[in-house]
Amino acid sequence: MRFRGLTIFVTGGAGFIGSAVVRHLLEDTEAFVVNIDKLTYASNLSSIPQAAGNPRYAFAKVDICDAPALRALFDRYQPHGVMNLAAESHVDRSIDGPGEFIRTNVVGTFTLLQEALRYWRGLEPARRSAFRLLHVSTDEVYGSLGAEGLFTEATAYQPNSPYSASKASSDHLVRAWRETYELPTVVTNCSNNYGPYHFPEKLIPHMIIKGLAHETLPVYGDGMNVRDWLYVEDHANALSLVLERGVVGETYNVGGRNERTNLYVVETICDLLDQLAPRADGSHRRLISFVADRPGHDRRYAIDASKLKDDLGWGPAYTFEQGIAETIDWYLANQEWVAEVTSGAYREYYTQQYGGKQ
Ligand code: NAD
Ligand code: TYD
Repeated sequence: MRFRGLTIFVTGGAGFIGSAVVRHLLEDTEAFVVNIDKLTYASNLSSIPQAAGNPRYAFAKVDICDAPALRALFDRYQPHGVMNLAAESHVDRSIDGPGEFIRTNVVGTFTLLQEALRYWRGLEPARRSAFRLLHVSTDEVYGSLGAEGLFTEATAYQPNSPYSASKASSDHLVRAWRETYELPTVVTNCSNNYGPYHFPEKLIPHMIIKGLAHETLPVYGDGMNVRDWLYVEDHANALSLVLERGVVGETYNVGGRNERTNLYVVETICDLLDQLAPRADGSHRRLISFVADRPGHDRRYAIDASKLKDDLGWGPAYTFEQGIAETIDWYLANQEWVAEVTSGAYREYYTQQYGGKQ
């Protein structure tokens, strides 16, 4: 069985992708998982139902910028690997308020690298050579494509938003800590994810939830921007594979070759909602409204993931059409989760449980 007897830190494990990684590690492997999360607005611990009473799971409410708290966790749990998913992740928020993105994505990654390095240097040789730090990044660091071409691992970085610039900075720090200090790191750059437990500010859950409420569906610009969609469980599988078998110092692109325009995505959601939650007052498509474009809006992302396939044998299990249908089914069946994250009730819960959200 995979990861038997191994302890893995997952930072950002209460977020969208982090929680999918934690669910995957708890369900499909024997790893002991320590979920390290500051519990920002984007987090929700109820996204990990498998955690309740699980002897292979621990949670620590810790900010990755907090060096002493990280040090205490490394000393206490002695991890075999670290998966870094803690981040501020929403482009629109990075335009309105970039400071938090620099703090968590750049300073937080720096702090985690420093503490991982201190811990790693103290390990005995066998543990030292087996240790890995997997830094989870995005295809947005590569900038924007024209009508043709794909991002490969050799594509030059050209970030255009405060979010992607902060992620690019963190990727460079990870590279430098490996080159300079020989910390055994691996980096992944993935395309847009979607699936269950996705916080409603991102395109797909935003449109599903607004569509169900029969509210306007705001499409930025002409709706012809292209994103390359990957079902979140496929990403979680890729990440555990890279942690297990990825080569130190390498970067792996992760993507499903599911390029779709935003308008196609929104229309597909409308058509599925027409079937699954029909309204007497007409198709959901009539809710679509073209609104002012996002500043610096990247036109097209598309990932070449052939290195991950050729070297490690990874491929996505879901087509976009399968994944989007499953996602809508999930949102229809889990309206309680949606109500929780949209009503603010979850914030009160966190305040009671953990002494407040930051
Ligand atoms: P998310 O916003 O849903 O979750 C981020 C999590 O990190 C939250 O639980 C939050 O509480 C936590 N966090 C934030 N700041 C923290 C801090 N200072 N200390 C500890 N925890 C903190 O993000 P996501 O969509 O799950 O993305 C996870 C990672 O994957 C990010 O690094 C992101 O850049 C990357 N990524 C995301 C996508 C995507 O489509 N969502 C695609 C490729 C890569
Ligand atoms: P988003 O989910 O924010 O991901 P990212 O910006 O990281 O790719 O947005 C996906 C695409 O959808 C992006 O091109 C912006 C667009 N978009 C809309 O058209 N309307 C919306 O309400 C949102 C949230 C996004």
